[in-house]
Amino acid sequence: MRSHDTIICGAGVIGLSLALELRKRGLRVLVVERAAPGHESSHAAAGMLAWCEPHSVPQLHALAEASYRAYPAWIAELEDPHIDLQREGTLQLLDEGEPWPTLGCVRAVPADELAQLEPQLATGYRAALLDEASVDPRALCVALERVARHREVDFVTGSPVTSLWLADGRVVGVRTERAEYHADIVVNCCGAWSNEISAGILRVPTRPMKGQMLSVVGGALPRHTVVRHTIRGHDVYLVPRSDGRLLIGATVEDAGYDKRVVPETIQRLHQGATNLVPAIGEMKMLEAWAGLRPGTPDELPIVGATSVPGYFVAAGHFRDGILLAPITAQVMADLISGVAPALDLTPFTPDRFAR
Ligand code: GLY
Repeated sequence: MRSHDTIICGAGVIGLSLALELRKRGLRVLVVERAAPGHESSHAAAGMLAWCEPHSVPQLHALAEASYRAYPAWIAELEDPHIDLQREGTLQLLDEGEPWPTLGCVRAVPADELAQLEPQLATGYRAALLDEASVDPRALCVALERVARHREVDFVTGSPVTSLWLADGRVVGVRTERAEYHADIVVNCCGAWSNEISAGILRVPTRPMKGQMLSVVGGALPRHTVVRHTIRGHDVYLVPRSDGRLLIGATVEDAGYDKRVVPETIQRLHQGATNLVPAIGEMKMLEAWAGLRPGTPDELPIVGATSVPGYFVAAGHFRDGILLAPITAQVMADLISGVAPALDLTPFTPDRFAR
């Protein structure tokens, strides 16, 4: 195998995006993935680019907005229509008496307009329209892997990193059960598994936060007319795809590395969706699944250089991995190539958990 400047551990959307960005900057990159690229949380994600979510953590806003703004051009480079960027926006449902969000990316929707925007939505809801979009994360990861391979990023799959390889206090590579791989820079993009490879070196306290969801298709109404926007309520959200699928999500469960789907939970989500849009009751269930979001103690991602020379982390993106992929790739590639990132990464520093 060729020699490499950088090893990326983990081929979810964050690892793939960073691999491609570093390759574009001329570095020789190896990605080491425990399973198959894009097959863990990125495969399970709904793909909402929810940068304007009024309840999100404030320290995340600048990063989230920058990533959202970068998305159209970033996707265009991948040249794959299956990524399915949808820009109709999100209808955020508001509780009785809940004030209208005051963010610039939000607009109050009068009741008569709401009925026009989403004719199948049950009556009695108030909603704000958020300037957001969605993508199909599965297609996005397929495209990222394809373009990365085309640009000669190397992959080792089906082989988890078992430990970091250290010499003289710095990282010089990684070990798997089968081999050792050398590079002067190693980036931990292992999502909910990030702490495993870092054990004994630096705490990277991500933990799996299970999300169960389902998709439905068909029904009596023509495609794209059941739900046109992403709709977010308190207990359920709906994300339409242009191929006619409608995604219904999602639970947030602290259940360890358990990806089992519980029929009663799926039924509850389905019922919640049908309460919002009764026509969903006539659609057929296509798939039900669960994924493990990488949560962190403060709900902020872990992004940056660590106190161990050569060792970087880009993990813990919790509910926003798909949204934050382009900006994470950009700022991490800046750091690795010695350029000062345009955004303040202090809130996300990996060393905050060592203090
Ligand atoms: N980003 C959607 C979710 O975490 O369910």
